[in-house]
Amino acid sequence: MKRRVRVEIDVGALVRNYGKIAAHVQPAQVLCVLKANAYGLGVGAYARALAGAGCRMFGVAEPFEAMELAGVLAECGRSADASIQILSSVLPDEIPDMVAAGIVLPVAGREEARAISDAAVRIGRKARVHFKIDTGMGRLGIVEDEALAVVREACALPGLDCEGIFTHCPMAYDPRDPFTAGQIARFKALVAAAAAQGLAFKYVHMAASDAINNFPECARAPFNVVRAGINLHGSFDPNGRRALAVEPVLALKTRVAQVRTLKAGSTLGYGRTWCLREATKIATISAGYADGLPLALANRAQVLIKGVRCPVVGRVSMDYTTVDVSRVPDVAAGDEVVCLGRSGGEIVTPDDWAAVKGTHAYDIICSLGSRVERVVKY
Ligand SMILES: Cc1ncc(COP(=O)(O)O)c(C=O)c1O
Repeated sequence: MKRRVRVEIDVGALVRNYGKIAAHVQPAQVLCVLKANAYGLGVGAYARALAGAGCRMFGVAEPFEAMELAGVLAECGRSADASIQILSSVLPDEIPDMVAAGIVLPVAGREEARAISDAAVRIGRKARVHFKIDTGMGRLGIVEDEALAVVREACALPGLDCEGIFTHCPMAYDPRDPFTAGQIARFKALVAAAAAQGLAFKYVHMAASDAINNFPECARAPFNVVRAGINLHGSFDPNGRRALAVEPVLALKTRVAQVRTLKAGSTLGYGRTWCLREATKIATISAGYADGLPLALANRAQVLIKGVRCPVVGRVSMDYTTVDVSRVPDVAAGDEVVCLGRSGGEIVTPDDWAAVKGTHAYDIICSLGSRVERVVKY
């Protein structure tokens, strides 16, 4: 049986987005962040398309994802010239397998540096590492005060190929934010101080999507890599500039389950949050919060049927949602419903839903349900 709810991934749009980011930041390289199964959309299709478009650096959050991605790149013949990098953390028991697989690892402290080096020496190879410096994210990495000393000591270890150094910003969605400006200055000073001690790095990086849009200096020397995630999908943080003209990659579609005309005074759904003032044609669509429709859409958002915006009326339930189809001629069970994406001249984006829910597009995209079929459109 075909699934009723599907998310369509527009590979053409994805590749165009990658190209726009690459052109915007060149000569810096784009490291494509495909963690969490490419934000839930399917790492296989994303990796194949992006590798085909020229991406040679990929980032993930943890070892399972790294190995999954390694399998995809091997299948499409890109293992030799593409690197896979864990951006967050690696645990002691995970290190030997990661080193053996040639995954680029983050060094988040002295102990990690030694453990990675020891594992590499044991198998007679060098482990490629990037120093992860905490300049203010407060989550993971070498604390700033110790950074130079840790980097110096680690660079002397026999098993490490210390090819990179990076940091991450918690507030780069705000172009006026002095904290990010301070982070950039302090990180640059650290890189310069390391260079003065003969410790130079092939890759220096700081910018994720927010900084790409709001802090263009993060794509210029000494920086030569940016890490792009949400912009690949065509979304942005709700605040800040949109320097890139990226386009939405995903469309979430379902079908009408039933159409009925309900009389005035009828209430719709759990909690009876909507009461019809007059007899109204209501379609019940086959998607709910189990598919990723936020509860916040209730009485505040629209879906598209035959190019017409149809207001969501009543609470979103697990599998079904009721919409007002008064303005849609000839709507019937089985018709296509575009929850996210284009229909006629209309469009609904993950960013629109994020605004309704008071969240960001990451939350919307990563929340698409497991029963939603991922369909890749070439
Ligand atoms: C270290 C790191 N770099 C880059 C990214 C990509 O961020 P974005 O999706 O905002 O581009 C993330 C995602 O959270 C991250 O944790």
